[in-house]
Amino acid sequence: MSSTQRFSRRTTITHAGRHPHDNHGVVNPPVYHASTILQPSLDAFEAARKPNWTGYRYGRAGTPTSRSFEEAVTEVYGAAGSVAVSSGLAAITNAVLACVKSGDHILVTDNAYGPTRRFCNTFLARFGVETTFYDPTIGAGITGLFKNNTVAVYTEAPGSQTFDMSDIPAISTAAHDKGAVVLMDNTWASPLYFDPFAKGVDIVVEAVTKYICGHSDVMMGIIVGTEEWAGPVRDMAKLHGNACGPNDLYLAQRGLRTLAVRMAQNQANGLELANWLRDRPEVKRVLHPGLTNDPGHVIWKRDFTGASGLFGFVLNEGYSRAALAAMLDGLELYGMGASWGGYESLIIPANPRDFRTATTWDEPGQLLRVHAGLEDIDDLITDLGAGLDRLSAVAKVA
Ligand SMILES: Cc1ncc(COP(=O)(O)O)c(C=O)c1O
Repeated sequence: MSSTQRFSRRTTITHAGRHPHDNHGVVNPPVYHASTILQPSLDAFEAARKPNWTGYRYGRAGTPTSRSFEEAVTEVYGAAGSVAVSSGLAAITNAVLACVKSGDHILVTDNAYGPTRRFCNTFLARFGVETTFYDPTIGAGITGLFKNNTVAVYTEAPGSQTFDMSDIPAISTAAHDKGAVVLMDNTWASPLYFDPFAKGVDIVVEAVTKYICGHSDVMMGIIVGTEEWAGPVRDMAKLHGNACGPNDLYLAQRGLRTLAVRMAQNQANGLELANWLRDRPEVKRVLHPGLTNDPGHVIWKRDFTGASGLFGFVLNEGYSRAALAAMLDGLELYGMGASWGGYESLIIPANPRDFRTATTWDEPGQLLRVHAGLEDIDDLITDLGAGLDRLSAVAKVA
């Protein structure tokens, strides 16, 4: 079961990183709780201190549990290597730090996950790395934003609040022409629905917290790299002392095995909800690149093979906060909380207006972000429909 790349990714996620016959035939890799790892001799101890040592030397530097998860994700992505870290945000920050030094300039998409922007504007700025945010729909036009010291382009598609789509191949080509490395947050699509390395990306980050884990009970991230970048991103994560707990690694690997069936259901529920919302009188616009009338649809159809269950919709202008509270507080199946990618449905108000600098978000109506979980779609529609009825009812009496 070592090399499964000749199979589809749906097959690879079920087999990669598992070596049952090295473990008494047990199907799942064992959970190694380890800080101290003993070497059998002085020779072995000294060998384990060498930089190119690939065995185990200390829990933080890797255990069979972390390596089996990393091996699985690397294989699913068809990449050269990966490193698991303690959160999706840690994946983002360590990946970026592996690419920059003081005096450099980077380009970051304007729809990036909020804490990514904050990291650039605070931490990176403090250490002399300048960030320019760019319009996510800029495509090949990004060429005009490069400076002599631009070393990296950070992408995310679609944005996880506004769902605007980027032309990753065009951006990657432009970046490589200028000698810059391309990073991508691929949490929305996962390796099943977007193949970043085939589209020119050099370093992928994914919040394992979301779809790979899939059960809303683990914080974890993964950084995946090409031959050139797998080593530097691993080194950066290790320099920071970043490591994951064995039980979380086990849960993440267990989540990975069912990613394909879960995401197929998230996708189906998400698309059906999005289409149904289009016809609701309270809704001005639905933001989902899988919808044929979405501005990002053409690129999504060309480059992606599916959609996750995360999308947005904008309410018509003028609903009061009391009306919104009546709608959201009374929902039975949609929880109100950060994160997404679990088995359950979520809904939260979002306000991208405060997080844009290269572009503006000028929809006057309230934006709501939905995560379509694995519940029965009829129940999801009934519950959200009742919520929208409450919204209208309160708005009428207010
Ligand atoms: C698109 C995206 N990337 C990264 C992250 C960060 O992941 P984590 O919460 O595991 O740090 C999030 C979290 O919401 C996210 O939405």
